[in-house]
Amino acid sequence: MTKARESWGSKLGFILAVAGSAIGLANIWRFPYMVGSYGGAAFIILYLLCLLLIGFPAFMAETLIGRTAQMSPGAAFRKLGGNRTWENMGKMTIVTGFIVSSFYSAVAGWILGYLVEALLGRLTGFETTDQVTAHYTALMQHPLWGVSFHLLFILLCGAVLYLGVRAGIERCSKWMMPLLFIVLFYLVITGLMMPNAGAGLRFLLTPDWTAITPTAVVLALGQAFFTLSVGQGTLVTYGSYFSPKENLVQSCFPIVLMDTCVSLLSAVAVFTIVFSVGMEPNSGPGLIFQTLPWVFSQVSGGYFLAIMFFVLVLLAALTSEISVLEPVIAYLVDEHGWKRKRAVLAAASGAFLLGVPSALSYSVLRNFTLWDKTFLDWIELLASSLLIPLGGLFAVLLVGWKWGFVNAFVSLKSGSDAFFKRYPWLENYFWFCFKFSAPILIVIVFLHAIYSSF
Ligand code: PHE
Repeated sequence: MTKARESWGSKLGFILAVAGSAIGLANIWRFPYMVGSYGGAAFIILYLLCLLLIGFPAFMAETLIGRTAQMSPGAAFRKLGGNRTWENMGKMTIVTGFIVSSFYSAVAGWILGYLVEALLGRLTGFETTDQVTAHYTALMQHPLWGVSFHLLFILLCGAVLYLGVRAGIERCSKWMMPLLFIVLFYLVITGLMMPNAGAGLRFLLTPDWTAITPTAVVLALGQAFFTLSVGQGTLVTYGSYFSPKENLVQSCFPIVLMDTCVSLLSAVAVFTIVFSVGMEPNSGPGLIFQTLPWVFSQVSGGYFLAIMFFVLVLLAALTSEISVLEPVIAYLVDEHGWKRKRAVLAAASGAFLLGVPSALSYSVLRNFTLWDKTFLDWIELLASSLLIPLGGLFAVLLVGWKWGFVNAFVSLKSGSDAFFKRYPWLENYFWFCFKFSAPILIVIVFLHAIYSSF
């Protein structure tokens, strides 16, 4: 007799695990500096539109595929799409997730390394910004530093995954997510009480429409996808552990809401903290490793603030990395009959090895560039500009056209008849998004991204 497939212990377990996946580096690190560089509130509005018309529908399409098929992505796409071509599209999303898991861990390794720096009190004694930069460069250019923390980070995630879906992923999300919210609230309140907080808020809330260029639109869409973990096998896999008896829309909506609130609150925390010492908010990815350490050296209580900040980012990154490794594991278990523990070892070691060149992209490999881009730049570009949008597109096409809206809607309503009777317009919304807005807008943005990169 085959062992029953793993599943979530409760609806709350599902919500927190998926929220853990969604809330990650993209919310805390990427969102604030995108808002800073692309027009403040104008970017926020554009981003919310992308969520409504593309991100949320693609998110629903993927969890629905998983929940209906109760299989890992390759098999789920085959079951609903009816042939090998669809199966291969599903498998592609697993590969995408695996690629993301490799560089995501390399980057998260730096965060872990910076947390150690914060604990050792090395982020609070800078007297000039040159010192901050020198410290950053020294760490980044040390090959062993990046690789060891990348390894440590993967080991942490592997340990949770090793314990299984319920005893590992679900249990760890149940205490990590509340902790993350507490730390975030602490940072937002501290930020709001700092001098100049008003200037930070004003910057956030004043729209600059001239900054909304086609590039901003592409970035907003990419952000909506990446932050919701669309296109990487994660949602199909996490959805496949969810019971068909539960209300899917009602479980997913709070996740998207939480994810959006965390992005907005992170932007508030980052801007108020950064403005307090009169720094520029749009300082790109150097924000976390250079601007913030400088701020921590200037304000009172900087030591504790630095620790809290890096704890926040680390918590967010851990649950996301776990979720992006899970599709490969589910695939090896479901389709090749591997024992879970062996699958975890294989996935984690694979992600570690593939992540090594990313972890070295600022040190020994920094001069190995192609058109001025490092290995990390390329692999991230490949995932976020090509593979992730494609994965999301395949999912909405499967749901809206191949499997078909009528069948999909029957499955979507499972466990939630009364809910759809109360909100009948939801059917029209999903029909419009699955069939038209999501696929068409993804294709337009995707073509523009390709066109503008050449
Ligand atoms: N959503 C995560 C973030 O915002 C990243 C992620 C992508 C996690 C894909 C899992 C799958 O950082």
